[in-house]
This record gives sequence, structure tokens and C-alpha cells, in this order.
Amino acid sequence: MDKTLLYQHAFDKDVVRSTATPFYYYDTALLHETLQEVNHQIHGLPFQVHYAVKANNNPRILSEIAKGGLGADLVSGGEMEVALAAGFKAQEMSFSGVGKSDQEIMLGIQHDIGCFNVESIPELEVINQLACEMGKTANIAFRVNPDIDAHTHKYITTGTAENKFGICIEALEPAVKHALTLPHIHLRGLHFHIGSQITTMRPFAMLCDTINSLLDKFEQQNIHFESINVGGGLGIDYTDPDSHPLPDFKSYFNTFKEKLHYRPNQLVHFELGRAIVGECGTLIASVIYVKESRNKKFIILDAGMTELIRPALYDAHHLIQNLTAQGGEPCGVYDVVGPICESSDVFCRDCKLPITRRGDLIAIRSAGAYGECMSSRYNMRRQPASVFVGSK
Ligand code: LLP
Repeated sequence: MDKTLLYQHAFDKDVVRSTATPFYYYDTALLHETLQEVNHQIHGLPFQVHYAVKANNNPRILSEIAKGGLGADLVSGGEMEVALAAGFKAQEMSFSGVGKSDQEIMLGIQHDIGCFNVESIPELEVINQLACEMGKTANIAFRVNPDIDAHTHKYITTGTAENKFGICIEALEPAVKHALTLPHIHLRGLHFHIGSQITTMRPFAMLCDTINSLLDKFEQQNIHFESINVGGGLGIDYTDPDSHPLPDFKSYFNTFKEKLHYRPNQLVHFELGRAIVGECGTLIASVIYVKESRNKKFIILDAGMTELIRPALYDAHHLIQNLTAQGGEPCGVYDVVGPICESSDVFCRDCKLPITRRGDLIAIRSAGAYGECMSSRYNMRRQPASVFVGSK
């Protein structure tokens, strides 16, 4: 590739030019900065941050995050295995999911994981029974469905009564009392998660109010919890990632510091995925063809919904940049699409870009979370490669 790179900010030109497309480009310097900022904001507070492995399970990313001191939030036995291999401590793992299999539960009990986030009474009974058979006690928290609408995309809202997740508030008290009688269960606390890509603090403040009243209610009955897990969900800036490469961790953690009435000896757990890895990843693709139809111009990339499904699945917006076009100013209007045999294989409609030609390199930004890990083999596509660059 002998084109001149115009957007030079975060990209290593040699790496971008010399790597076969499509591939994920990870800026590990930005990842480190993000982890540092998280650790800085929680310093001195009884807060523990777990990384939601589902957002990106690339082994290199996982080991950087484990080194950064975060715990792990899991939703499968497979995630537990990769997280253990990457160096996360079992005692700092929490395991959510409405359908944990017996094998997955046994794996967690075997490793004495920090917490199973239990989503139903049948699951509680199975955990108790399997722990009994293994001669162990399992740490659990109840995942509570707080019925709060986070006003994000309907596919990534998880905390309303409509959703399959968690135990509804009315059923919580009998569940807690029952768990306290089970010999192989150690009830640590309560767990919540209201949704993802939340960009205002209001839903988190509402969550704090709900938690506060639950804690008061249980304390009146002399029931105390050692841990409160408030889930994840902090959003990132998909529109202007260069202005906000780091999410607003300060406001986020301050909201919980100020609004959540956590008690002495209580640890507050967080499960952040997108906010940790979203901005450090970019999908880089080449333009295969530029095609004009009656009233549209299409940029056809060698990456599609198989490499990044978010636009097709959630109508998600990702900033698209032409890294190699001559003249940086937008002056063409294109639909940017992939090569997959699906009409939804579109990254952006009516996207303003510089005049684009075959062979140009295109960056699809903010793709570090729910990008590579949601890629598929549909149309017999190959798994995209990943490269890691340490400095900006
Ligand atoms: N904790 C639980 C229980 C969760 O279900 C999730 C995400 C998280 C934590 C992490 O949420 P985050 O901090 O990343 O918002 N594929 C979708 C997002 C699905 C999120 C599922 N749950 C997307 O691409 O937008």
C-alpha cells in the first residue's frame, strides 16, 4: 500500500499499511490510560471494578486488563477459562447469566469464584446441591431486576420487568430468606445491571435510589450484605471518539460515591465492559470497489457484518474515516457496505467522506467492545486478525 495516511493521530502508519485487511487495530497505550484512569477514580474507595469479558475476550486484551488489577465479570464457563488463563483471580470473578449449565456451575465452585450472580430460585437450588456434592460452599448474590428503563437500545436494555434477567423486586425477600437457610450457599449480596451504552448519569442515580431503599428494608430485618454489585453500562462517544477517548469515569464513580448509601464494610462492585475497551479498538478495512447505482454511491469494503455486527444488529453508529484519500475534506456521500449477502450488511448510510477509491484504507472507529468477539464465520469468512500497537 503506497498511499499517504491522512489521519495520523492514533494509528501507526507502518502497521496499518503492512497488515492484510480486514483486521482489528488495538491501541494498547489508550487501554493502559483507561485502566489508569479507572484505578485513579476509585482510589481510596471501597469500590472494585470487574471487566466484563464478553465485551472483548482477545487473550492479549484480557492479560493487559488483568495486569491492570481489575476483576472479571463472566457469562459462561468458556469466559471463566480464558479469564483464568489470562491471570484474573478466581476470587475476583463474578458469574452472571440466566442459563448457567451444571458444568459451568461446577467449574465456578471448583475454582471458588468470588460470586455467582443468581438469576432464579431453580438456579439457587442447583448451585446449593452441586456445592453440597462437591463438599463446598458457593458465594452468591441475587441479581435483582430493578425495573429501571435505561433508555438505551431495546436489545441492550436489561433491567426492565420485560427482560428475562434477574429476580423481580417482589420475589427478592423470600429468595433472600430462603438462601440464608441453605447450608452450601454463602449469600454475599445483591447484583444489578440496567443496560449498556448509558450516556447520562440519571439511570445510575435512579439505580442508587432503588438499592438504597432495598438496603434499608433488609436492614430493618437485620439482614446485612457484604457486597453490592451495580453492574456495568457506562457508554462511550461513538460520534467523536477523538474528543472523548476516555469515558467520563469521574462523573460515573462520583454518582455512586454520592448517591449510593453503602455501609461500612460493604464493597461496591462494578462490571464495566464497553467503557474499558470500546475506544481502543478500530476495524481497518480496504475498499474493494466503489460502485454507482441510479441514485447511490456505494463503498464496498472487505469487512462486513461478519467482522462487526453492531450496525446491522442495533443500527449502531460508528465513525468511519478514510485513512488514505487525497484531500481530507468530506466531499462525497456514500453508503459504506460490506461484502456479505445480506441487505443489512451496511456500516453507514449517506456517509460523508473524501472522494474514495478502490484500495483506500477505511477505519471504523470505537470497535473495541462487542466487535471482534461478536464476529462470525457466516459466508465462510475468516476470523479477522488483530494487531496491538503500544504508542499513539
Ligand atoms: N454486566 C452484565 C450482567 C451484563 O449483562 C453486561 C452487558 C455488562 C455487565 C457489561 O456492560 P457494558 O459495561 O459493556 O455496557 N452487544 C451489545 C452490548 C450487550 C451488553 C450485554 N451485557 C452491543 O454491542 O452494544
